[in-house]
Parts: sequence; structure tokens; C-alpha cells
Amino acid sequence: MDSPIDELLASFHSVLSNALATHPKAELFAGLADRVANLGPARTVPASSNATVDTWLTPTVEVTSGPWVDLARKVLAATPESPWLRSYENLESSPQLDAFQQHYSFLLFAAPVYRGYEPPVLANDMLIGFTLQEPNVEYPAHHHGPAEIYGVISGHLEWQVGNTWTSVGPGDVIVHRSHESHAMYTGDEPVLTWVAWPTTEDGHVYMPSLDPDDMSMEPLVY
Ligand SMILES: [Fe+2]
Repeated sequence: MDSPIDELLASFHSVLSNALATHPKAELFAGLADRVANLGPARTVPASSNATVDTWLTPTVEVTSGPWVDLARKVLAATPESPWLRSYENLESSPQLDAFQQHYSFLLFAAPVYRGYEPPVLANDMLIGFTLQEPNVEYPAHHHGPAEIYGVISGHLEWQVGNTWTSVGPGDVIVHRSHESHAMYTGDEPVLTWVAWPTTEDGHVYMPSLDPDDMSMEPLVY
């Protein structure tokens, strides 16, 4: 019988394949679904959690509706064997950073070894994760070299891409082109997403409002 990690990988592959089959910017992720199909099997790695996951993951999965309920359940089932991490641990603590960082977590799922954390699926040429953002939390505007594709599994939120704000919810897919600025604001609901980068090259994330000055650059706006 497949492990919960292998089951999550299979479910994610199906979701990603379907999302890319119809998305107008799918060419940014050409070949990614085929590469995901060749990942695995799962490895046993140290699991980790935090207050965001301990408090919010189960209730978020329980209220999930829409096309990816099965994926949500598989994220929950895989969690006892998964590293759920905090973001931007390399940045200096500040009230603004803490307001985001302590209320957001991501599951490092398929990736290279990342800052010493072992992903349960080793993948040297892509990054696949799941994110959990608590209610009323701002993920500040940021950008990065790799294109990025998100899918909203559970909850509704406001998503900024460039100068455009959109209300999104379960089943919606959001694509960021290279260095396209994006920010996410939750309202009353926690939000669970899946996310994929097609490459691990040039993975620095630029977050002008929180980066040290000497690492910042202005977000490009399209
Ligand atoms: Fe991003």
C-alpha cells in the first residue's frame, strides 16, 4: 500500500496536470507535470510542525469544498510524516515580519534539501509545496526569478499580481511570471494552497518591505 506521501504525490500530479491542461500560461511550466510523474517514492524524513499547522490545518481541511477536497485530505494524512516550515527564517525578526511569519507555514514536499530540511520527495529541479495562511494575515508583496503556479485548495482571499487584485477561492489557479510582484491577503478564513516552481535555479525571493536594504530590489509591475 502506498504511503500517505506517495498518495499525496499522485493526487498532486493529477491536480497539476489538469490545471496545466487548460491554463493560458501553461507554457511557463512545460514538461513539469511529466517530471512530477517521475518523482518518488517517498522517503522517511524528520517531521515538523508549528502553531499555525497545529491550530488551523485540521479545521481548514474539514471545511474544504470545491474540486480539491481529496487533495486537502491527503495533505492532512501526510502531515505527520512531513516538514511544515516557517518562511523567511533568514530575515531579521521585526514586528512586521512576525505578523506574517508566525501565522504562515509551508509544507516542503518535493524539493532539494532546503536549508538543511529534508523534503519527503527529493526533487533537484523543482519545488512543490503546500501553504497554510491564517485568517487576517498579509503575505507582503514579493517576487522571484522562477515562474510560479498556485492553486487555492481551501478558503477565499485577495490576491495581488502586479497592480491587479483578484478575489480567489477553491479551484482557482494563479500564475506569476518571472519577477512579477504578488501578495496575498486572507480575510476571515484560513487558506490552504498548493504551489509549484518549475526550477530551483535563482531561487532568491525579493520582498522589498522586509528584506534588508542591501538585498532589496523594487518589485516589477506589469
Ligand atoms: Fe511567490
